[in-house]
Amino acid sequence: MTSSPRHFLNTQDWSRAQIDAVLADAARMKREPIGDALKGRSIALVFFNPSMRTRTSFELGAFQLGAHAVVLQPGKDAWPIEFDLGTVMDGDAEEHIAEVARVLSQYVDMIGVRAFPKFVDWAVDREDRVLEGFAKYATVPVINMETITHPCQELAHALALQEHFGTSDLRGKKYVLTWTYHPKPLNTAVANSALTIATRMGMDVTLLCPTPEYVLDERYMGWAGQNVSESGGSLTVSHDIESAYAGADVVYAKSWGALPYFGNWGPEKPIRDRYRHFMVDETKMALTNDGVFSHCLPLRRNVKATDAVMDSPRCIAVQEAGNRLHVQKAVMKALAAR
Ligand code: CP
Repeated sequence: MTSSPRHFLNTQDWSRAQIDAVLADAARMKREPIGDALKGRSIALVFFNPSMRTRTSFELGAFQLGAHAVVLQPGKDAWPIEFDLGTVMDGDAEEHIAEVARVLSQYVDMIGVRAFPKFVDWAVDREDRVLEGFAKYATVPVINMETITHPCQELAHALALQEHFGTSDLRGKKYVLTWTYHPKPLNTAVANSALTIATRMGMDVTLLCPTPEYVLDERYMGWAGQNVSESGGSLTVSHDIESAYAGADVVYAKSWGALPYFGNWGPEKPIRDRYRHFMVDETKMALTNDGVFSHCLPLRRNVKATDAVMDSPRCIAVQEAGNRLHVQKAVMKALAAR
């Protein structure tokens, strides 16, 4: 683990003390949002995919600390970028990441990157080439705004749980990360991240998914295993809804595509359609220990979770989304101070 990482690519690269310091600073800035810690600084927010929360919270967070944010969407309002070395660039890409990252580093103090998997070949997608390309060539800190993990969401989630339980010590809480239905195969990023931060916080984590094919990539299962050995929590994989929900303090829902079907999604569709009943509903939540529910958003109501679950006072998804603003400000401050 790096003692003072240059970038914020994954929470796993940062020490527990660094994570705790960011969460504490975020909580402080939630009470006092306006400051000048980034006065005169700037950040480029590079979006290869759509966003509502991430874009808004980063732009406003920079503004509230005196910095300026520039949003770029390569292939839309900025030139398409090539990431592979040695490519004869006679396709759509007009410039190479080797120039893009270094040029942006001449202008701005930080670069945020959102780049989802292409959903064709997981072996390629799991290399996280876009984020790693920026991190390799940029001479300023790079922030992961969601690629194959979503570390900013992790921090917002952790802060929301700490607020809900009234303590920064989440050890001993039963935490269920449940797969839920969605008509399309989605990114595993938030699931990877939820597993990472929940085990890091020492909770007793159950990964509930329809079949073994929906278990997450071995890298993130490995991080979770490493985390429980350090934090004293636990990790269980379950395909049984009732026992997984029983006594849960936290239910976190996310839908994702089964990794073995990357690039050949046709056969996965009938499998996922058989598990529509994984949708989070009142009956399942009644099995919990008066548990709290959350989701990273956006969420399709009555597909991933019912109206009653979303409108329940036990749902903290909106509070978690609000926390994105505060934790990202704390991350930008921490990186700018290095
Ligand atoms: N949760 C999240 O990252 O939301 P957006 O996709 O709207 O940014």
